Amino acid sequence: MVDLNFKYKTLLDFLKKETPFTPDISIILGSGLGDFAEQLKINKTILTGKIPNYPASTVSGHKGKIHFAEYENKKIILFQGRIHFYEGYNINECIIPVFISHKLGAKNLLLTNAAGGINKNFVPGDLMLANSLNGILIKRELTDLIGLTNLAGKDNFISLPDPEFNEIIRQSAKAKGIKIKEGVYIYTKGPTYETPAEIRFFAKYGADAVGMSTVHEAVYSSYLGMKTAAISCITNFAAGISLQKLTHSEVTETADRVKDTFARLVKAIIKTL
Ligand code: HPA
Repeated sequence: MVDLNFKYKTLLDFLKKETPFTPDISIILGSGLGDFAEQLKINKTILTGKIPNYPASTVSGHKGKIHFAEYENKKIILFQGRIHFYEGYNINECIIPVFISHKLGAKNLLLTNAAGGINKNFVPGDLMLANSLNGILIKRELTDLIGLTNLAGKDNFISLPDPEFNEIIRQSAKAKGIKIKEGVYIYTKGPTYETPAEIRFFAKYGADAVGMSTVHEAVYSSYLGMKTAAISCITNFAAGISLQKLTHSEVTETADRVKDTFARLVKAIIKTL
């Protein structure tokens, strides 16, 4: 088990000095969804490159900025850029944004991501509330991270995501007239997109959307007692669902196309929380 308080002491000491307020909610923005930051009153921006020991963001569409922002009297810490396992980081580096959010006092965490649609009723541009998560491919690493094996019989069964938070998302979408789908998000380590055979396998086991983030962040935040929910932007048909070859630019282009709807939904959620 890794002692994150020790490992990230310098990083945290730096941020504690720089942080203008105690956030109510933390939001991690997925691939291509980073423009949401422009929708809020930004109080302060910290470049992650300036934070000691903060992993560098290597993916286009992930800016490497932490914003402290306000909306409707809510204080928000906003991660414009994510740390992925497929970039070569280990799991205790990938969850740094969750660790920071918790240490700075955020009680709520909204995870957003770009995902491939496995469910045949999904089309690129749909927003999906992840009403359940499948992290079977990352469980071993999580065990290392939080010592889950030592918790047998105690808090071993983390409830994911938070049913109350999910209901807030449903109601916020309804109030804004935004149609959202619901389904199971399955994590895959990457670094490549899946093969059609892998997608058929995931479909058989109940997955509706696939991506390379979120599940480990959600497991960790729930473990820390943060109210957690996740929204996927379906940016493409998963491999083999359509015959078209999948590219990262398709992912960012679709995310860009739905950014206004996504922003209206997330703002409504912040207001309601
Ligand atoms: N697979 C994995 N990750 C993704 C996808 C996908 O199809 N689309 C966006 N992120």
